[in-house]
Amino acid sequence: MQKTITGFSKLTKSEKIDWIVNTYFSNNKSAKTTLEQYWNSNKKLQQLHDEFIENTITNYYLPFGVAPNFLINGKTYTIPMAIEESSVVAAASKAAKFWLDRGGFKAEVISTTKIGQVHFTYDGNTEDLINFFKNTKSKFFKDTKSITKSMENRGGGILDIDLKDKTKDLADYYQLHATFETMDAMGANFINSCLEQFATTLKTEADHSLSGNVDVIMSILSNYVPNCLVRAEVSCKVEDLTENSKTSAEAFAEKFIQAVKIAEIEPYRAVTHNKGIMNGIDAVVLATGNDFRAVEAGVHAYASRNGTYSSLTHAEVKDGIFKFWMEIPLALGTVGGLTSLHPLVKLALEMLGKPSAKELMQIVAVAGLAQNFAALRSLTTTGIQEGHMKMHLMNILNQFEATSQEKEQLVSHFKTHTVTHSSVVDAINNLRNN
Ligand code: MEV
Repeated sequence: MQKTITGFSKLTKSEKIDWIVNTYFSNNKSAKTTLEQYWNSNKKLQQLHDEFIENTITNYYLPFGVAPNFLINGKTYTIPMAIEESSVVAAASKAAKFWLDRGGFKAEVISTTKIGQVHFTYDGNTEDLINFFKNTKSKFFKDTKSITKSMENRGGGILDIDLKDKTKDLADYYQLHATFETMDAMGANFINSCLEQFATTLKTEADHSLSGNVDVIMSILSNYVPNCLVRAEVSCKVEDLTENSKTSAEAFAEKFIQAVKIAEIEPYRAVTHNKGIMNGIDAVVLATGNDFRAVEAGVHAYASRNGTYSSLTHAEVKDGIFKFWMEIPLALGTVGGLTSLHPLVKLALEMLGKPSAKELMQIVAVAGLAQNFAALRSLTTTGIQEGHMKMHLMNILNQFEATSQEKEQLVSHFKTHTVTHSSVVDAINNLRNN
């Protein structure tokens, strides 16, 4: 069977499915049903999802959970999280509750500047280009007026445009490096439209007044936003850190800080440490209809800004006060894009009290910090397998279609026995045979 096709995008949805099923699933009778069982019976809602992307054949569900009890800057939130990984929502909720009793989280937006660049080559004299840019700079602002008008009315717009000489790194390479304020919008369309207009203005004006040739390579925003920065923090007296008498508060703080320090200097650990932070961040970013790939790329670049990949969080004890904090770049929006289209995104934002982009930056950063706190807390005390094994136990019990009575008995049994696949299977069999 031929596995390539011309004009696939022109086929109807059911023709697309038929082609997929005939081409790849001739021996799998349930493939079509598997795809179709995820269609929504509400035709309008299904069409909305079909039109988010191209060649849609079905929906791919992610669980949408919530983590309550987050106290941030004195306000309480229930945070929506879209994620497939077990334990993440539970960990966030646990950390939220822990800090609720200790003054909650503090968060602060440090800056909100976004960046876009027109990358171009120029084969003439650099001084001429610098003078040309000085003389034409105002034209870049003038030519983008129709694009920037409504953003300016909302308090945003183009902040500045610089000419950057990159010829030391790459022959003939220059940039127009522009900074933007996009208020409550993530701003990708706005920034890219401005940049494409800059490119047109650059080419037209340069062709008139420069002897060398300007060739625009591309115009695109940057997902590296080190000046769109938010800080999240928790602190309390060291003695208030423990909930049980097994570990002393001082020993817990010391071990916790050591774990953070390891992630600060050891990239292998830092990647996993930061991955845990992104468990919280991505889940809220997704639930609120934002671009988690952009956030991921920008955050990891920021984690390497000093030349080595390092921890995003930091911790210390000073004058008897334990402090744990993080600063991360987050370009988020609460208007535009999916925010007004996807019913669950709308609901998530409503649940958060229709936050501004700045408030959402704070909530997302807190979710990341909480996640890291929960991970380090269990890693440096019980280890993470204890929680995971509880989940593992439930998964096996569900596989064996255990009744609620059987579940109750077995969960109680495994409070004092080690969970492995075979020990659970044996326990189910014993219970059933008796
Ligand atoms: C698992 O998704 C995340 C952790 O590995 C994070 C960490 O190790 O800090 C638990």
